[in-house]
Amino acid sequence: MLESESKIFKDERILNPEYLPELLPHREHQIERIANNIYPASKGRSAQNIFIFGGPGVGKTASVKFVFRKFQEFSDRVKTIYINTWDYSTSYAILTKLVLDLGFFVQRRGLSKDEVMERLIEALKKTKKSLIVCLDEVDQLIKKDEKSLYNLLRLDQYVDNPIGLVMISNYRDIFINVEPRIKSSLDVEEIEFKSYSLQEMKDILLERCKKAFRLDVLQEGVILLCTNHAVNKGGDVRIGLECLRKAARICEEENSDKIKVGHVKQILKQVGPVKLEIMRKKLEGVEKNIVELLSQEKEITSTELHKKYVEKFGKITQFGLRKHIKHLEGIGILKSKVSRKETRGRKYFISLIKCKKFTT
Ligand SMILES: Nc1ncnc2c1ncn2[C@@H]1O[C@H](COP(=O)(O)OP(=O)(O)OP(=O)(O)O)[C@@H](O)[C@H]1O
Ligand SMILES: [Mg+2]
Repeated sequence: MLESESKIFKDERILNPEYLPELLPHREHQIERIANNIYPASKGRSAQNIFIFGGPGVGKTASVKFVFRKFQEFSDRVKTIYINTWDYSTSYAILTKLVLDLGFFVQRRGLSKDEVMERLIEALKKTKKSLIVCLDEVDQLIKKDEKSLYNLLRLDQYVDNPIGLVMISNYRDIFINVEPRIKSSLDVEEIEFKSYSLQEMKDILLERCKKAFRLDVLQEGVILLCTNHAVNKGGDVRIGLECLRKAARICEEENSDKIKVGHVKQILKQVGPVKLEIMRKKLEGVEKNIVELLSQEKEITSTELHKKYVEKFGKITQFGLRKHIKHLEGIGILKSKVSRKETRGRKYFISLIKCKKFTT
């Protein structure tokens, strides 16, 4: 055995949340539904738009990427493009990405939105392929630039290529307040991803472990403990994976041959809901600053928060700050409550959310 080789890992990368497994146990049914809705596009017929919703870490993104990978492997008539709208949150950014991913050139700056749209239409006419676009975390897009969704929904009026959208969100009701013209062109097939049961979570982690670890390195009870923790902390598979990774690290530090229940127990407290952390890391500017201030407080009124904000980060109006607070509340990063006792005006108490509950 090479010195750099691990005694316990066969392939540590398998435990990465970004790793896309060959098998997604207990999502066969949802995967089939996604594929069936996209399938007509691979024959040049129109695709059905899809809306996928469910709590964090229940395999929504993985299932769509899984289906996309299969279509890319087996059909040259359809082009699938995955976009996380946390990273591409404006029409301009999305349209540019679509043109580039279709294999055509477009400057990233300097053009108007209409010009980029024209490039996209040209690109689609040239490729003649069907286009399936996944808009992951689509609630972000609706909040920031609702119109971009409208542009995408209308795209097939300008080209003959079949175009389908696969939209993903943690929340079921994100379309309730969108403009009527967007609502009327939505026509989505809804696919719910329910939380995994204890047994399902165990099967999923077991499957990952088989590929990640060498034979017999897991003491009995290790997977069950990680499973329990993941389910108790909201059902995100990433929590289970993180427990396994952290326990493995302790095992390696001790130069032990087996990951033991004791190793897992040592790290359980350090592993909480990971989705919130992921979302917080993606925040920028004012919103990042707000979270930084709130993380030092248990609860704070909006007036106090404004004062502290100005002291630390510089000028911003109360109204401007409130807009960002509302957005952070909408995406589940913080909560605010109104005091009823005040006679002169109402007070808003704001605090960070520690453990998000998803109600699907
Ligand atoms: N059925 C499954 N089989 C194997 N791995 C799974 C399964 N479901 C989820 N996972 C794994 O769990 C992790 C999180 O999954 P995924 O990113 O798809 O969650 P999600 O539902 O999109 O969550 P979020 O709403 O937070 O984006 C990934 O590593 C994924 O591979
Ligand atoms: Mg996801």
